[in-house]
Amino acid sequence: MPLDFLGDLRRTHMCGELRAEHTGARVILLGWVNRRRDLGNVIFIDVRDRSGMTQLVFDKGENAAVHEKASNLRSEYVIAAIGKVRRRDADTINKNIATGEIEVTVDELKLLNESKLPPFLPSEAGPINEEVRLKYRYIDLRRENMQANIQLRHNVALAIRQDLAARGFLEIETPFMTRSTPEGARDYLVPSRVHPGEFYALPQSPQLFKQILMISGFDKYFQIVRCFRDEDLRADRQPEFTQIDLEMSFPQPDRVFEVVESFLKAAFKAAGIDLPTPFVRMTYDQAIRQYGIDKPDMRLPAMTDIRPAFTDEDLAELRIDGNLNMVGIRIPNVGKISDREKKELRALSEELGKRNKDFAGVLYDFAQLEKKRPQVAAKIRELCGAGADDLVVPVVGIAAEGKTRSAANQKAQFTSGGEARLELARKYADKHKAFERTGEVARDFKLLWVTDFPMFEYDEGERRWNAAHHPFTSPHEQDMDKLQADPGAVRALAYDVVLNGTELGSGSIRIHRQDIQKQIFTSLGMTDDEARSRFGFFLDALEYGTPPHGGIALGLDRIVMILAGEDSLREVIPFPKTAKAIDMMVDAPTPVSEAQLRDLGIKIR
Ligand code: AMO
Repeated sequence: MPLDFLGDLRRTHMCGELRAEHTGARVILLGWVNRRRDLGNVIFIDVRDRSGMTQLVFDKGENAAVHEKASNLRSEYVIAAIGKVRRRDADTINKNIATGEIEVTVDELKLLNESKLPPFLPSEAGPINEEVRLKYRYIDLRRENMQANIQLRHNVALAIRQDLAARGFLEIETPFMTRSTPEGARDYLVPSRVHPGEFYALPQSPQLFKQILMISGFDKYFQIVRCFRDEDLRADRQPEFTQIDLEMSFPQPDRVFEVVESFLKAAFKAAGIDLPTPFVRMTYDQAIRQYGIDKPDMRLPAMTDIRPAFTDEDLAELRIDGNLNMVGIRIPNVGKISDREKKELRALSEELGKRNKDFAGVLYDFAQLEKKRPQVAAKIRELCGAGADDLVVPVVGIAAEGKTRSAANQKAQFTSGGEARLELARKYADKHKAFERTGEVARDFKLLWVTDFPMFEYDEGERRWNAAHHPFTSPHEQDMDKLQADPGAVRALAYDVVLNGTELGSGSIRIHRQDIQKQIFTSLGMTDDEARSRFGFFLDALEYGTPPHGGIALGLDRIVMILAGEDSLREVIPFPKTAKAIDMMVDAPTPVSEAQLRDLGIKIR
């Protein structure tokens, strides 16, 4: 079919805009053919753009030429339709679409472009193979769900920008071609043609630049910025992702929390959700004791200390080690569990032991406990606040003759308990319904701050201490004297913001004094020379009047993913990479030509 030119045609309305009150209006709509139904004398076409769709009517009796032209339209052709809005008969009103009360009778039709038959249609309901979706991302992005996700991403980012700007934060750009940054993942490197054999690194975060901006006196900085990390990918990780990155001068952690709570409230509002602030706060220690993890999912009950349920005699009789931490897990509304489920619980218990060699415990069979020691069982249910239908799983340590348990054993009781809690929570999700995201049940967003992280983590393999956050994080003022003597006990002024078990963001108050920075490098086993070769420019800058400062970065993609009710970042990133870090659409990465390599002075081994 011959194509028409757009000429000076200008749309009067978007395709999702027309309502009953527009009846009688002459309109021009521009968009894609979503669906065509040919009833012979009458053809119906849904024309679609990002706002929605409108039903077009082509009646042979009224305009045979236009009807004939419409009969040649196919899915995803691009058209201009000029016609009149009319009310639909009561029995043909479509309540499922916003424009369902009207239709447009078309008297002039322009075909602006044709389309090959796509491998899937944007209106297709069923699941579509993800690789095909990613290869034909331009078609995929036409789907209603993807359009909504990308729109949501825009609304959320805009709300955050406006909120931060209103609080006096300046958005300042930092370079993408730079040096290695201190986040601890692998860098993506960019070879320099002008300096053969030398490389830039893409930033894993703007960490050092934002600290330097504080040294430069900008006081409040933010940036919605792309970061690059060459790490193993998971559903909530992409090699390039977007941070809401900020830094402030002279803050206490509370000041950072206020700022983040304010822009998250604005972001959630942009998604139609009222988010209560301030968020819950919990120290790292408390999070480990109550949830067995540093990113607690608080949609389900915390673990409870069940030690008070046992007398010494109970412990001896049940062969339980009363000196080890013990916790009760409660999962609401599970009801009676079958023999098969009891078996699965025992398997999970064994699995936990295999996963963590420090775990000295078991998930105790509650039914057995009820038989052997009913008063203990009753006390445990009471301590856990369990209702009649709630599943209670005690995590207890096995008594081991003459053995003193280590701190690692003690912690593993909590962390393995935490793992069991999450597995059971996932397993019984359709019973407790706390994870429901859409539908009748209100979506539950539990946000919290986890504070006072340990400053250092011990690397067993390398036999040395590593920075748990990054080496520019300030220790607690009260813990300075333990830096050399007892690094494991030093708390950092570091904090995470956590939503429903996902780490949304992470930050800290930084070190602004040279003397303390030196001590930290020493604790990390880094010599002066090593520190200088990695971060020399930054250590120099620290010497020129650095104010106390601190900040945080949140993952924008993760926030939008959760607000959109999606399970993967790929659903909220327009052009994402696969789990193997491949861009299916453009087909990257690719080998490059010999000539290009020669230019860069690079030889492939
Ligand atoms: P951190 O490394 O914890 O801190 O990163 C902050 C937040 O960024 C998000 N994020 C990611 N999102 C998607 N894919 C990834 N590969 C990925 N990696 C991180 C997470 C995370 O919580 N410079 C410090 C912040 C600071 O101290 O101010 C930093 O980058 O949501």
